[in-house]
Amino acid sequence: MSAVPPMPVRVEVPVQPARSYEVVIEPGLLARLPNLVATVAPASRYAVLADGNVAAAYGEPLSEALRGFGLDAQLLILPPGEAHKDRTTWAAVTDELLGGGFGRDSCILAVGGGVAGDLAGFIAATFMRGIKFIQVPTSLLAMVDASIGGKTGVDTPAGKNLVGAFHQPQLVAVDPEVLATLPELELRAGLAETVKHGAIADADYLQWIGNAAPALFRREPQALGHLVRRSVEIKAAFVSADVHEAGARESLNFGHTIGHAIEALSGYALPHGYAVAIGMVTEAAIGEAAGVTETSTAERLRDVLGRMGLPTTLPPDSRPGAILERCRLDKKARVGRIRYTLIARPGQVARGRGGEFALAIDDRTVLGVLERDSLARVVGDLP
Ligand SMILES: NC(=O)c1ccc[n+]([C@@H]2O[C@H](COP(=O)([O-])OP(=O)(O)OC[C@H]3O[C@@H](n4cnc5c(N)ncnc54)[C@H](O)[C@@H]3O)[C@@H](O)[C@H]2O)c1
Ligand SMILES: [Zn+2]
Repeated sequence: MSAVPPMPVRVEVPVQPARSYEVVIEPGLLARLPNLVATVAPASRYAVLADGNVAAAYGEPLSEALRGFGLDAQLLILPPGEAHKDRTTWAAVTDELLGGGFGRDSCILAVGGGVAGDLAGFIAATFMRGIKFIQVPTSLLAMVDASIGGKTGVDTPAGKNLVGAFHQPQLVAVDPEVLATLPELELRAGLAETVKHGAIADADYLQWIGNAAPALFRREPQALGHLVRRSVEIKAAFVSADVHEAGARESLNFGHTIGHAIEALSGYALPHGYAVAIGMVTEAAIGEAAGVTETSTAERLRDVLGRMGLPTTLPPDSRPGAILERCRLDKKARVGRIRYTLIARPGQVARGRGGEFALAIDDRTVLGVLERDSLARVVGDLP
């Protein structure tokens, strides 16, 4: 895949019940958003809910543009950070909207990363039993992952994303130019999920990502636009395939069983995408050891992720037994074997004999790989 197709690109995402919405991807899209908003989501008032870190750069100009277009729009700033994706912020913003006289015929625009999208989406899902909303994702992770699939919600002290609702947007508007200001660590974290999309569905795309690394890190809008487009197509396909084929959505968990365990064991110091990068290489190695995954798949993933500057070996203080126990806890697999979403080869998910998407693997096989990886790292670290 060499030539990147011209923008704008529209990806249709079908949702149930019989409705669909578009993900529009175009450099400079933010400037012509008012027209699109008025067409796809006519409303009496618009509330622009923007993450505090991007409110000045993107939220305020967008509200002004909406007003300039003759729409009634107001900017509300969301406190940034996962710690504020909670019921306290949900209640405060909901009360602000009620106090400001927003009604059932209002529309919410979520401007920010996955935190703003999940929170603003949940506010839209519950405000007067559900009002229209539009996703304007500004982080790569939100563009390729969080804004697609209709999951909205908040965290609670008992865990992440435990209170929420499915609420589909009217539109997802992606302007790759906003990624110019995204911190590099956040760009990498988003890239890990795009590598996952290549790994589970499209080997050519996986290779393209590896080759396009320099252009992506230069934040070239055409390359970033192509990246978002292909990832959105893949995520949308798995999310809507679920309607017909139970379990297909599980494919998106590749790298996440081990990834979540490492992330949790780090006390969430390791960014999610970084943990998933390590998780994908480890799960590919587990698949190879179990005879499910083609040989050298782990090496191939390690190469692409390495080009993204993502980690591909277990953190230095990892204890294989603790990782396994954490996986068991997450999967609630107290009895029986833990199930993993694995790939057969780059670009293809592995399926069980009965067609299932998550495969039970022996603890001994998993421990063998984790121990080998820890050992390789220690030996590799020697001068
Ligand atoms: N709904 C879903 O299906 C789904 C899927 C995956 C993740 N999520 C959720 O998404 C969240 C993670 O999303 P995230 O990684 O985008 O985190 P985030 O929203 O916290 O954004 C990351 C950081 O980048 C900043 N930022 C965002 N866009 C920027 C830009 N253009 N310029 C400068 N700074 C910018 C944010 O202020 C924040 O500090 C988690 O809460 C996770 O649970 C949801
Ligand atoms: Zn993830």
